[in-house]
Amino acid sequence: IDALGVAVPSTCVRLEDLAVARNVEPSKFLLGLGTRMMGVALPDEDTVTLAARAAREALQSAGVGGDEVGLLAVGTETAVDHSKPVASYVQGLVGIGSNCRVFETKHACYGGTAALQLALDWIRSGSARGRKALVVCSDIARYGLGTPGEPTQGAGAVAILISEAPRLVALEAGVSGIYSQDVHDFWRPLYSKDALVDGHYSVKCYLEALEGAFLNYRALVGETPPEGSFFSDRFAALAYHVPYGKLARKGHQRLRELDGDPTPDTSFARLVEPGLVLPSLVGNIYTGSLNLSLTSLLACHPGSLEGQRVGLFSYGSGSCAEFFGGTVQPGAHARVRALGLMERLEARQVLEVPEYEAIMRARESIDERPAGADQTTGAFGYLGVEQERRTYARGGAA
Ligand code: HMG
Repeated sequence: IDALGVAVPSTCVRLEDLAVARNVEPSKFLLGLGTRMMGVALPDEDTVTLAARAAREALQSAGVGGDEVGLLAVGTETAVDHSKPVASYVQGLVGIGSNCRVFETKHACYGGTAALQLALDWIRSGSARGRKALVVCSDIARYGLGTPGEPTQGAGAVAILISEAPRLVALEAGVSGIYSQDVHDFWRPLYSKDALVDGHYSVKCYLEALEGAFLNYRALVGETPPEGSFFSDRFAALAYHVPYGKLARKGHQRLRELDGDPTPDTSFARLVEPGLVLPSLVGNIYTGSLNLSLTSLLACHPGSLEGQRVGLFSYGSGSCAEFFGGTVQPGAHARVRALGLMERLEARQVLEVPEYEAIMRARESIDERPAGADQTTGAFGYLGVEQERRTYARGGAA
């Protein structure tokens, strides 16, 4: 991973406000789920606008031009078209050259990791011939007003620039633990804008998949930990898929139990918590969730992870999971902190719950909204539909 770019909506809701509005004890959302705020996309934002903003930031942060990218993939489960990929819109908006493979990947929240692994193999095989791969994970998570999933919504995109000489994280080649099965834990039928979920069953599936992927990884690495330590101590930090913070905590406990740790929660604050700072302020961003946790580790870790290994767990309902790792490169913390993510999150406008509800209702018809009906504010803002085509503002402020 040579560079990262992150885009989040400029508006958000405080989970304690949502709890009060839903007649729920705020501690259920804050402690029971481990969430604090969720990003709310305005009607001029969609998966394309978020992806384009994140992609532009990753390219700018690396100092890489659009014509140096030979593979552009967008992982998403909230695409804007059944046929035209989000990646093609991003190509046009960001200015990626024409000699580039451009496509979209889908497998719930695992879609971004599927694209990342493909891109890594493309670079390692030599097919890239020095060109970079740009993988963007972009989603708007939506379960509907008043549902149990509502406090676990969110919106955002993370772009990952991959090169042969990575300046952030060098991912381990060829060692990756995988676990997949055909389950109906979370899905979104073609007729619905809201995701459907068998909530408690989805938690069980996540934990089962974590176990399967981690044990597969551990067997492939085949290392015996030094006396007095556990296998997962080979990592200085772990980033999990974070539908909500509490599940990352439960996942970490399961992982340490598998390692034989008699006090499986004691390493949580050291190994996992710095990776939950950004996710707890943005919510579940589906494909980008794991990468937001990795970004959080690099931006918010109190010490230095440079020269040390981090472990990554990706989960997508349906399901497919992958456990892999990498080594943080010198200078990575400074590069990611220079993105100023905390400052951007603090500058967001906090919405009252009725304002958020009105936005959620307005979003229901954005796919049919005629262009020009609303004014756009953000960079690459969604303008509406003109002659059956989605249109976007070019450029604009970040
Ligand atoms: P729920 O059923 O309303 O909540 O929704 P609950 O009753 O299970 O309570 C949640 C926790 O809060 C419990 O803790 C309670 O004890 C605690 P736990 O037993 O789990 O440790 N609690 C309190 N704590 C403090 N003070 C209180 C209080 N009251 C209760 N007053 C559920 C929870 C997760 C089911 C719901 O939010 C949901 O359906 N979310 C969406 C689905 C989801 O996120 N699933 C995660 C796994 S699947 C996944 O990760 C894939 C996904 O990202 C999609 C993709 O792949 O594309 C979702």
